[in-house]
Amino acid sequence: MQAIAGWLGTGRVIDTERPDGPRLLTGATGFLGVFLLEALQGAESTPVWCVVRCRSEAEGRARLLERARFFGATIDASRVEIIPGDVSEPRLGLSESWRRAILREVKHVYHSAAQVDFLRGYPSLKAANVMSVVELGRLTLDAPGMHLHFVSSRNVLDLVGGGIEERMRQPWHDRLNDGYAQSKWVAEQVVVALHERGVPCAIYRPSRIVAARRSRGVNVDEFFNRALRASARLGLEPGYSGVDNMVPVDHVARAIVALSQMDACLGGAFHVQHPRETSLSLVLDRLRHRLALEGRTIDTSGPREWIAAIEGDDPAHQPLFALLPLLRVDASDAPAAPPAPVPSGKTDELLRSLGIECPAIDEAHVDRLIALALT
Ligand SMILES: NC(=O)c1ccc[n+]([C@@H]2O[C@H](COP(=O)([O-])OP(=O)(O)OC[C@H]3O[C@@H](n4cnc5c(N)ncnc54)[C@H](OP(=O)(O)O)[C@@H]3O)[C@@H](O)[C@H]2O)c1
Repeated sequence: MQAIAGWLGTGRVIDTERPDGPRLLTGATGFLGVFLLEALQGAESTPVWCVVRCRSEAEGRARLLERARFFGATIDASRVEIIPGDVSEPRLGLSESWRRAILREVKHVYHSAAQVDFLRGYPSLKAANVMSVVELGRLTLDAPGMHLHFVSSRNVLDLVGGGIEERMRQPWHDRLNDGYAQSKWVAEQVVVALHERGVPCAIYRPSRIVAARRSRGVNVDEFFNRALRASARLGLEPGYSGVDNMVPVDHVARAIVALSQMDACLGGAFHVQHPRETSLSLVLDRLRHRLALEGRTIDTSGPREWIAAIEGDDPAHQPLFALLPLLRVDASDAPAAPPAPVPSGKTDELLRSLGIECPAIDEAHVDRLIALALT
């Protein structure tokens, strides 16, 4: 915590009304980011300024449009400004003129950019995932009344120990054993420190974000998508019988934007997840069904046999080979203990009051997820 105090300095802001202005969005070229952009544009007519890693405004715009097309989001490029930047760099890699413009005009900052990588250690994720929040925090301290909306992850929660509450401050726990979860947890502490210094902020913790029914593309390197491809390739699935909380990407985006527009959300943390868990047996059954249509079969094993098959496969073509260290951590054939419940009552109630409902993940939706993962 001392480090955070050092990073943020002694700045503090008092509650100040700031005129509304353009939204600042990071990570707009990402899976969630393009849908956040779509949701922001759907909810408001204010322009959105997107910090994009690029050498020129034209390059950044072309990449943003390409990513929106790929993921299937509908965006209006005429209402977007591209700000070349890199959130892992000091001062977010912004030019001085853009920095001044942001300080002058922006009221709401949405921070979705992150390195979503479960294999890298904390030191290599710190710049993008932690120091970016520090840099944005410094902006908010220099611009009283600027709001910070931080996209975190349910990975910071203690899903084994339990006792989770839907609030900003989450205790450190022993299950924070990968660099990604650690970096998101430390980033959250920066947000908590900013909140204590008077910055209006909120934290959003989605569960596993999956494609919307209308999605056209996904991050093929994401674990779930790799696991489906790995199983299809091996003709072997791990026989998991548990559940996973999967929430469609367009719902996550819409929920975050809607919550962020309520002053009551400031100082809060929101668990943006699906009200019903998705059964992994349903997913594996639908995978079997899909492969059967192609005349292929798939056997069921236990997790250990499945992992052994991945280990024995050709590393160059096995989608999960690189992630074996993660798989080995839970390599037991004993049924996994059900994860601790993650409360989302406050978020669900607010979303209900706004008329926002999470679409069901039914067979047809699971078929779409499988189709996208296998392409
Ligand atoms: N996916 C999930 O299931 C999930 C679940 C819970 C929470 N989250 C959180 O949701 C957020 C978005 O995740 P995602 O799945 O959409 O990830 P993603 O598809 O990998 O997108 C990450 C975005 O961050 C940008 N980015 C990364 N490093 C950057 C840097 N140094 N400077 C500027 N931009 C940078 C990427 O830009 P480039 O296009 O230049 O790479 C991209 O736009 C993250 O904060 C993640 O922690 C994700």
